[in-house]
Amino acid sequence: MTKLSFEPMSLSDLDAVMQIEKKSYPIGWSKSVMRDCIQSDYHTIVLKKDKNIIGFGIVMTALDEAHLLNMCIDSDCQGKGYGRKLLKYLENICIYNRTKVFLLEVRESSPVAQALYQSFGFIQIGLRKNYYKKPKGREHAIVMHKIL
Ligand SMILES: CC(C)(COP(=O)(O)OP(=O)(O)OC[C@H]1O[C@@H](n2cnc3c(N)ncnc32)[C@H](O)[C@@H]1OP(=O)(O)O)[C@@H](O)C(=O)NCCC(=O)NCCS
Repeated sequence: MTKLSFEPMSLSDLDAVMQIEKKSYPIGWSKSVMRDCIQSDYHTIVLKKDKNIIGFGIVMTALDEAHLLNMCIDSDCQGKGYGRKLLKYLENICIYNRTKVFLLEVRESSPVAQALYQSFGFIQIGLRKNYYKKPKGREHAIVMHKIL
């Protein structure tokens, strides 16, 4: 039987996490940014399936606000409900920490992520123009929030 677990990300997870990150975005985070997150007080979580890392999420909390900084499911495992489970886990961390507002940015070109967030009750509250780098040019970020 498949075993899923959510665990704090550690430095030994860095290579596996970066592989997923690189497959997810044409221009993503560098290894040093990811390492800084692990060593910060952010909530850095890996989702494991039978001991293999298949996804990760990073949430920064400050006072009663939380910010979803990154969330990815390995491209080989997408569309099977793991993203929904991971987001629920991250939201529960926020609720446990008495967060009132959960914020995120999502690429305009990511309809799957937008559909996931909308179905979770996130609503658009703004647009950050030219926020993300693309191989050619830049794209806008849709800013969304959910009141918990
Ligand atoms: C966005 C992401 C995390 C979703 O994870 P996932 O495991 O593929 O998603 P799930 O299978 O749990 O599906 C969750 C919801 O996403 C939407 N979705 C999933 N696959 C979809 C598809 N092919 N087309 C449209 N919507 C889709 C649906 O709303 C789905 O809910 P439903 O199954 O109840 O209808 C994942 O696709 C990913 O890592 N993408 C690349 C990185 C990224 O864009 N991260 C978000 C950063 S803001």
